[in-house]
Amino acid sequence: MEWFEDEALWTGFSEVMFSAERAAEAAVRVAASPLLRLPAGAAVLDLGCGPGTYTIPFARRGATVTGVDLSAALLEHAAAAAAEAGVEVRLIRADMRRFAEPYRFDLAISMYTSFGLFVEPEQNMRVLRNVLTSLKPGGRLLIDLYGKEIAARDGQEPKVVDVNGGTLLVRGTVLHDWTRFRDDFLLVRDGQVRTAVVEHALYSAAELKAMLREAGFADIDCFGGFAGEPFDNHARRLIVRGRRA
Ligand SMILES: C[S@@+](CC[C@H](N)C(=O)[O-])C[C@H]1O[C@@H](n2cnc3c(N)ncnc32)[C@H](O)[C@@H]1O
Repeated sequence: MEWFEDEALWTGFSEVMFSAERAAEAAVRVAASPLLRLPAGAAVLDLGCGPGTYTIPFARRGATVTGVDLSAALLEHAAAAAAEAGVEVRLIRADMRRFAEPYRFDLAISMYTSFGLFVEPEQNMRVLRNVLTSLKPGGRLLIDLYGKEIAARDGQEPKVVDVNGGTLLVRGTVLHDWTRFRDDFLLVRDGQVRTAVVEHALYSAAELKAMLREAGFADIDCFGGFAGEPFDNHARRLIVRGRRA
């Protein structure tokens, strides 16, 4: 089993990865970010949607949203969140390496480092090609990642964070000559210790832009935050965007 197929990881660390703070931040971004602005009724694909962190805010703003994820448990969370918000969303359990719906979407998003999960570079390229196929002409893909430059700048000191009556230790490790990154999580709460490992590719802006170019995207650009900031030494995220010609 690959690490991302482990349901216990997503459910056991759900409150950490999918906190109320992140949900609130996503709602603000969807409402205010110039990178996420859409005409009413636009069709959005949320690839690796998890518990609907971005699916629900887009649906609330009138988009027709399809959330795709491999985790049945997280899709159940997304369905419950949609019901609570009183919005309709389409949720599909699928592997992003195999999901494609030709010419269907105006915007595809891959948020919070949900891209680059696969060890084989060709499998990550396949995801990009699937997305290109799934976009309407003129439609855009937006990928939001923890990028290589940011990892290099911020260093990898272990962090200790308080979470809902527990303590979380996070330790990041750069792997394989700066091509991959691993986060080790250790959560102590209610007398229990839980551990998890998350691993993903570590792309520089230039590398990710080259991948989008190779997959066939046009008008590729890059930002350091959701206000559309430049990807410079102050960047908080690596955001790369491309358009289907
Ligand atoms: C870091 S989470 C981000 C979730 C969501 N985008 C967010 O912003 O909260 C990564 C998500 O990718 C999903 N995922 C992992 N491997 C996948 C695959 N092969 N196909 C589809 N989804 C996958 C996980 O189940 C998880 O929901």
